[in-house]
Amino acid sequence: MAIASRKLLWMHLYHAFAPLLRSIRSLPFLTRWLFHVNLVGTVHQHLWDSTTVVLRSAIGRYLKDGQRVLDLGTGHLGTLAVYCASIRNVTVVAVDRDEAFIENARRISQASEVSGIDFHRSDWFSNVAGTFDLIISNPPYIPTSVGDQHKHLTAFRNTWDGGSDGLAPARRILQDAPRFLTPGGRLLLGLDQLYVPMSAARDMVADFPALRLEGVVTSLWLPSKVYVISHSGKSTP
Ligand SMILES: C[S@@+](CC[C@H](N)C(=O)[O-])C[C@H]1O[C@@H](n2cnc3c(N)ncnc32)[C@H](O)[C@@H]1O
Repeated sequence: MAIASRKLLWMHLYHAFAPLLRSIRSLPFLTRWLFHVNLVGTVHQHLWDSTTVVLRSAIGRYLKDGQRVLDLGTGHLGTLAVYCASIRNVTVVAVDRDEAFIENARRISQASEVSGIDFHRSDWFSNVAGTFDLIISNPPYIPTSVGDQHKHLTAFRNTWDGGSDGLAPARRILQDAPRFLTPGGRLLLGLDQLYVPMSAARDMVADFPALRLEGVVTSLWLPSKVYVISHSGKSTP
């Protein structure tokens, strides 16, 4: 009961401050400072969210020089791909389903003076080859019925619509992840607790026996969580 009312309070506070938060997240200098992205063009107004920020912390913890990294759903700025390539000597494959996003992200990476990123179009893993030491994803996770109530979300459904419980894209990623992770590799999966309770996320990972939840990266101030997922050592039935 206490947890439910605290969550409701957070929801109300979050939605009361949402316009202010959106303006903060539209500041080019903040985007450059946080993610080393030179904002030479955008496809839509939404630049990043609280999950992108918590994923940034998780990347700081798990990204090492020499790794092969996959950014699944890189978005129109290629934010996390650019960030990875700017802080470590890594090779990055960055994919998105939206061709316009990929073209813009490529321009941004050139302007941000990072190299070693291969941007291309893919429906999650469908057009991806090889294995990766680190797979990063901030997939759409807002339940359809919740997102449809927010006016600012009506366009670019692709960026937020997580289906009936918010977890449809995450499940698709977990289904294929074991084949694309190196033996010691990790998947950093970001989800926002305001939309997807931690218990639901944990249960979802438990539904995939080939994977195990190694830990959760949290933030003191932000509602997003990053689930750190690796091979369990069990084979898929
Ligand atoms: C919440 S945005 C994340 C953008 C960016 N990575 C970030 O962290 O700010 C989700 C991204 O996933 C992409 N996406 C949605 N469905 C996809 C799919 N089936 N295959 C690949 N990318 C997809 C969207 O186009 C969008 O760019």
